[in-house]
Amino acid sequence: MAGRLAGKTAIVTGSSSGIGQSIAIRLASEGANIVVDYRNHPEGADATKQQIETVGAKAIVVHADVSKLADTQQLVDQAWQQFGGCDILVNNAGIERAADFWEVTEADYDAVLGINLKGAFFLTQAFVRRLRDAKRPGRIVNISSVHEDMAFPHFSTYCASKGAMRMLARNLAVELGPLGITVNNIAPGAIMTPINTSLLDDKPKLDALLKNIPLGRMGKPEEVAGLAAFLASDEAAYITGSTYVIDGGLMVNYHEQ
Ligand code: BGC
Repeated sequence: MAGRLAGKTAIVTGSSSGIGQSIAIRLASEGANIVVDYRNHPEGADATKQQIETVGAKAIVVHADVSKLADTQQLVDQAWQQFGGCDILVNNAGIERAADFWEVTEADYDAVLGINLKGAFFLTQAFVRRLRDAKRPGRIVNISSVHEDMAFPHFSTYCASKGAMRMLARNLAVELGPLGITVNNIAPGAIMTPINTSLLDDKPKLDALLKNIPLGRMGKPEEVAGLAAFLASDEAAYITGSTYVIDGGLMVNYHEQ
């Protein structure tokens, strides 16, 4: 297949829905083979695979809970077995749980940090080990959030995970640069995905959010996917250790009435 990512293979975690699904389809439309990862929604993963095949690329579906080390290894092993290597890793899988700080349970903490941070950490480690052994370069794109930087009251576990992702990317850019592996984060703002379902169904809350967004609307998963495809491509060869905010101006917005 022709395209910017022709001949490449990408793992996209959490690609059965939302931003991950869009990224998987976009990378495929630029020529990459895709490892579609899901935890809870096999039907979503199958839909992603079908769309990938429609654009003429190849996909395999792997059930992996990234918070489990053995599962992360499985994702990398499957990529190498089925496609002969793996060049691009998109750490997209993420969850959030709302709770006042004083109500957060150990189970909430473990669930959110387990998927958002531990999952990205050890999957990246498994991905890098294979590349290092094979002396091959690679691209890592983490989907973090504007909340790697900006407060999000009642989401302290989520913010802790995303803030850590920010430093992880910077640290790994330094350690992995000599291996020819780049690491960058994308920090989406409010994007229309399942993670935001309760917000989309709550008009007063949604209106309050939209007032904070200079562009006056939520983002689309496809818009995040376009940025991910760029960062995964050779065009981004000299970019590493950075976070790219895509939020309609949310983060920089401040005005007095
Ligand atoms: C969160 C959304 C939130 C958005 C903007 C995202 O990271 O997942 O729930 O609406 O940030 O605050």
